[in-house]
Amino acid sequence: MKFFLDTASLKDISWAAQAGLIDGITTNPSLLSKQAGDLDPRDVLKEICSLVDGPVSAEVVAVDADGMVKEGTELAKIAENIVVKIPMLEDGMIAVRRLAAAGIRTNVTLCFSSVQCLIAAKAGASYVSPFIGRLDDVGQEGMDVIREARVIFDNYNIETEILAASIRHPRHVVEAAMIGADVATLPPEVLKKLLLHPLTDRGLDQFLSDWSKLVARAKAAV
Ligand code: G3P
Repeated sequence: MKFFLDTASLKDISWAAQAGLIDGITTNPSLLSKQAGDLDPRDVLKEICSLVDGPVSAEVVAVDADGMVKEGTELAKIAENIVVKIPMLEDGMIAVRRLAAAGIRTNVTLCFSSVQCLIAAKAGASYVSPFIGRLDDVGQEGMDVIREARVIFDNYNIETEILAASIRHPRHVVEAAMIGADVATLPPEVLKKLLLHPLTDRGLDQFLSDWSKLVARAKAAV
């Protein structure tokens, strides 16, 4: 399973990219608004695209098909690795078809059911993004959407990638991986948590302390 970082923070992206932990980035208007400050969001996206080799999702804010295609076409000019994020709307599906015909990759966002994922895939999306955490927040089992979408896509040999989004904790990542999601997009704090286990720290402390004792004994014996 690929890991994308769900952020527009250049600091977090640089850290994760240099550590070789990520395969791409997803942003959204909320994340860019947090990071951009007074900067032009396009400049922020350009910088992000230069930091990572993999796909960088950049979302349109138009909600009509013509507007989404126009905006998506402009976003795609920022860098070769831009993937245009399109909301799961009727007009969005028209835009996905038109962008796909122009060779522009899309990521259909705000998916909350497996059948929305199927519709987006049929329209020609490169990625579909079911929002797991937001479904859990309203008392539904978010992971069910990933489970169903995986079966449906496998039934029909659909190549669109299932991107588990709105991930809130490491268990979401484990479950999405077990089901076979192609990608999980993680907030930086979740990626950091994936690296940690208290027994790793405790075990390392013990190894290092035992090693120091060995070195001390060897010195004393000389
Ligand atoms: O980028 C889309 C998605 O991952 C947002 O997550 O935490 O705002 O529900 P969240």
